[in-house]
Amino acid sequence: MNTTTYKPTRAVIIGAGAVGTTTAYTLMLRKRVSEIVLIDVNHEKAVGEALDMNHGLPFVGGVKIWAGDYSDCAGADIMIVTAGAAQKTGETRLDLLKKNAAIFKDIVHNITQYNQEGILLIATNPVDILSYVTLKYSGFPVHRVIGSGTLLDSARYRYLLGKHKQIDPRSIHAHIIGEHGDTEVPVWSLANVAGAALAIEDEHKERIFDSTKNAAYEIIHAKGATFYAIALALDRIVTAILQNQSAVLNVSTLLDQYNGVSDVYLGVPCVVDRSGVREVLDLPLSEEETKLFHQSADKLKAEIAKLNL
Ligand code: LAC
Repeated sequence: MNTTTYKPTRAVIIGAGAVGTTTAYTLMLRKRVSEIVLIDVNHEKAVGEALDMNHGLPFVGGVKIWAGDYSDCAGADIMIVTAGAAQKTGETRLDLLKKNAAIFKDIVHNITQYNQEGILLIATNPVDILSYVTLKYSGFPVHRVIGSGTLLDSARYRYLLGKHKQIDPRSIHAHIIGEHGDTEVPVWSLANVAGAALAIEDEHKERIFDSTKNAAYEIIHAKGATFYAIALALDRIVTAILQNQSAVLNVSTLLDQYNGVSDVYLGVPCVVDRSGVREVLDLPLSEEETKLFHQSADKLKAEIAKLNL
């Protein structure tokens, strides 16, 4: 009898807070993986979250979910890091750097003790710098250390453009690149629908980009945290990886002479497949967009320099 061993796909989520648990729930509903492990410093919280999701399995089926520890990273396909302090009202993502970088050394060490082959997907903010920190601490190749980047920002941008034009946002092709944060860059020059340039009046451009860039501040002020859209963005990245889709996603990766920018993680269009980031796609940016992109890179490099890695 052919007894080929079936290897279940496993996602380990480090951090059972709002983003981590909503991501787990999203992966469960969409059956992206066969196993989901939740790890949190508050193990009881992780146990409760897993129990609550398990009680829904009679309606969903097909997924094993448990609260575990770092030994469960062994053999995992993807380790998603959402752990750390989240932005509070009045805080920027960069304000979180010192405290979150401090916990990442242990988190990355604990993961890599058990897993040297998986893909590290970082969502904790400031995500671009913490992805760079993870690359340094893990010793993994660049293609297997991915930040959620400006995938969420681009989704917000496409939603707002679609709302303005009364078009399904899935038919709007528009990029936010650079920092997932206050220096992010709207690529107006390449925004299009059906391949035709999107004509947007200047006063609407300002409103749309302002709402895109400041979306998290608005949501955090209203409800305390963001988690639904970032969970869907992480689900999108996991799917592109596990289904080897070669999908073009604005994730954060280490740049090497990208529009003149190197040695920093920023959100740019990447081809994502089972290997992680397979390649980075160049964008013919306008002069103004290139200048803003360099400003974004310089801002993050200055913050990285303070870490004395
Ligand atoms: C946001 C968080 C994920 O932009 O940074 O909602």
